Amino acid sequence: MQIQGIETSKLDWKGDILALGIFEGETEFTGELAQLNEKLSGTIEELIAETEFEGKTGSSAVTRVGGNSEIRKIILIGLGKAEELKLDSIRRTAAAIARIAKKEKSKTLGISLPITEEDAAATAQVITEGIILALHQDNRFKSEPEDKAPKLETVDLLGLAGTDTAITKAQNIASGVILARELVNAPANELTPVTMAETAQEIAKEYGLTVEILEKEDCEKLGMGAYLGVAQASDIPPKFIHLTYKPKGTARKKVAIVGKGLTFDSGGLNLKTGGSGIETMKMDMGGAAATLGSAKAIAQIKPDVEVHFISAATENMISGRAMHPGDILTASNGKTIEVNNTDAEGRLTLADALVFAEKLEVDAIVDLATLTGACIVALGGDISGLWSTDEELATNLKAAADLAGEKFWQMPIEEKYFEGLKSPIADMKNTGPRAGGAITATLFLKQFIKETPWAHLDVAGPVWADKENGVNNTGATGFGVRTLVNWVLG
Ligand code: BES
Ligand code: MN
Ligand code: ZN
Repeated sequence: MQIQGIETSKLDWKGDILALGIFEGETEFTGELAQLNEKLSGTIEELIAETEFEGKTGSSAVTRVGGNSEIRKIILIGLGKAEELKLDSIRRTAAAIARIAKKEKSKTLGISLPITEEDAAATAQVITEGIILALHQDNRFKSEPEDKAPKLETVDLLGLAGTDTAITKAQNIASGVILARELVNAPANELTPVTMAETAQEIAKEYGLTVEILEKEDCEKLGMGAYLGVAQASDIPPKFIHLTYKPKGTARKKVAIVGKGLTFDSGGLNLKTGGSGIETMKMDMGGAAATLGSAKAIAQIKPDVEVHFISAATENMISGRAMHPGDILTASNGKTIEVNNTDAEGRLTLADALVFAEKLEVDAIVDLATLTGACIVALGGDISGLWSTDEELATNLKAAADLAGEKFWQMPIEEKYFEGLKSPIADMKNTGPRAGGAITATLFLKQFIKETPWAHLDVAGPVWADKENGVNNTGATGFGVRTLVNWVLG
């Protein structure tokens, strides 16, 4: 699919389907739209009247244009109130347009949407992201693809000539989001620590990054007892993944992105049950998926920032070798942990990954983890929790997220709650009381960071979508990639 910004106005465009953005209450139009309506013998006016189209956000109307028109179909798409228009609403609008064009089996699509926030490049970027992400459908596990309809071949962004760089950037970002989606969608018998490490190696090879895979023995030497405790019951070996992107010239900053990489979380001996979500726990590597997805995007965009992408990949399984509830593990910073719940495994793997990240002497560390059900209870399925030891880092992440159209809400690091993690026998337990569970999980992780500015993103909810919404289709969303890329570039 080719996406391009062109000068052509809606009056002169020719093709299968033309999408026109209409603001709420501006259905009695003037100017070019009125001229187009006239050219199409009143089709637009009739469509508005017949469908009672008002231009409300999310509303749309489609019709066939009769006669020998050089435009075969028209989509009217509601933009809501002009003064409330935001880049992310344009991204979502583009996604809706792409879905309609697909349903209408169009091959060529013209999109006429207003330049938003006075930024043509950013407008082209969000439209491109919206189209690609809405059309992405993961058919890898179907013996026959469900949609055999002809594919969209070209998309013209009307009035957005000269935005090629922005379109390419959007394509690079979308390729990272799609990789993250594919990793999360892949079941645990397909995506294992071994195949995830192979994916990291493939990214490194294709885009010129360096990759280091630490084997179990290497991790033992580094004293990663917390991570290895989680890994010990699995028949599949753990793989500690470390990808590095270095710019050609000097790096203006150096950061680490750490993703929870549980390719399957059975809960361990504190076994999850059917209905408590065990059947969805292939997605427990959503953080690692975002990490690898952002590596793929960043490697193509090539910013002047050094980025380390890290994931302590493993399964959390049961066997005769499994951790017992009550076992005491020693992490690579020497701290001891009483594992009072083997299902709080993500924080054990992250503990050693964070210690490893801090040794790289980076300016900031951001981790992403499908860490707690408690965070979903607090914020619902669409919003990620954000905790940070550094206000500037939190502010930068929130700005990056805003641009990306991904939702985060900052939560408190309430030190007092560490009381809940006190152990009579070790330095700490790995779980505290049910109440405030996402906060105590954060306090646990904080024990493994000394002084580097750090942010923890609990993405348990938004990595997965139960139904189509915005640019997401049902299934993995690739959440986090767009925010991480914006943050690195910012
Ligand atoms: N991977 C889960 C968290 C999770 C739950 C992610 C639901 C996505 C959807 C994590 O390892 C876990 O099991 N957390 C426990 C912690 C508890 C034992 C303190 C939880 O949230 O129940
Ligand atoms: Mn768990
Ligand atoms: Zn987990």
